[in-house]
Amino acid sequence: MIEASAPAKAILFGEHAVVYGQPAIAVPVSDLRAFATAEPNDSGLRIAAGDLDIPVNIDAEPVEHALALTARLVLKALDVPAPAVTITIRSDIPIASGLGSGAAVSTALARALCMAVGRTPGHEALNKIIYEVEKIHHGTPSGIDNTVIVYERPVYFVRGQAIEPLTIGAHFTLLIGDTGKSASTRAAVASVRGLYESNLIVIQPILDEIGSVVEEARSAIKSGDVPAIGTLMKRNHELLQWLTVSSPELDALVTAAESAGALGAKLSGGGRGGNMIALVTDETCSQVEAALRAAGAVHVFRTEVR
Ligand code: MEV
Repeated sequence: MIEASAPAKAILFGEHAVVYGQPAIAVPVSDLRAFATAEPNDSGLRIAAGDLDIPVNIDAEPVEHALALTARLVLKALDVPAPAVTITIRSDIPIASGLGSGAAVSTALARALCMAVGRTPGHEALNKIIYEVEKIHHGTPSGIDNTVIVYERPVYFVRGQAIEPLTIGAHFTLLIGDTGKSASTRAAVASVRGLYESNLIVIQPILDEIGSVVEEARSAIKSGDVPAIGTLMKRNHELLQWLTVSSPELDALVTAAESAGALGAKLSGGGRGGNMIALVTDETCSQVEAALRAAGAVHVFRTEVR
């Protein structure tokens, strides 16, 4: 049996502004993963995910499902017929919560399908395919989610530019706190677009300021200045509040984490729900985790950035 997987992701700095050409920084969350297994069958290519069991007709149009689109794009890129396999998807990543569940599931599926036809997918080709699929989930994605998930390494990302790996001067620990409230990235991105178009004079300086925070964060991460990373996370969260993409639940978790000793905290991803991240040390980790749970986090995940 063939098995492939892909990680979740967390955006450390720069979400939303990255859609408008500002830089952003994201890391893979390798302990939280989506998996795809491929097993031979005698009925053609099928994708099974939870309650779904989708037969994939590679000539079908229009696109009816992101998973079917992923499979079609892979087969088209490889120029091979659909193999007779069932690809079963399973994921530990919470859905619609800013952790890249859609891109991770598509990446795991694409890898398993490539392996089922005897190919090893290259990162660059795979990244292009997953970006196309992301358009279904996000409308106008910047490409940061698929990039960090496909390459599974920390990235400094600018839309349309070559990927820059990020140097991590000193390891640091993040807690990811899940509000339990699912939120649509597509809706959040569209709402920021509405603000941008109706109020450019106010929104552009916020986006520029987020870009400056990202540049400072990149230097702080590179030099291993962990307290400075925390301070910049606080600033980035305030700027995201100005973009109206925070929520009472996210703000409650951010405040709880900082009051319990986190060096900084912010929402992560599309916002309006989903997840936040808190920067902790070995000394503060358990108290911040307890504070997040007491403030309503339904899950708390720990991840090391290295
Ligand atoms: C979503 O994870 C990140 C956003 O910046 C959207 C995007 O970059 O496509 C909100």
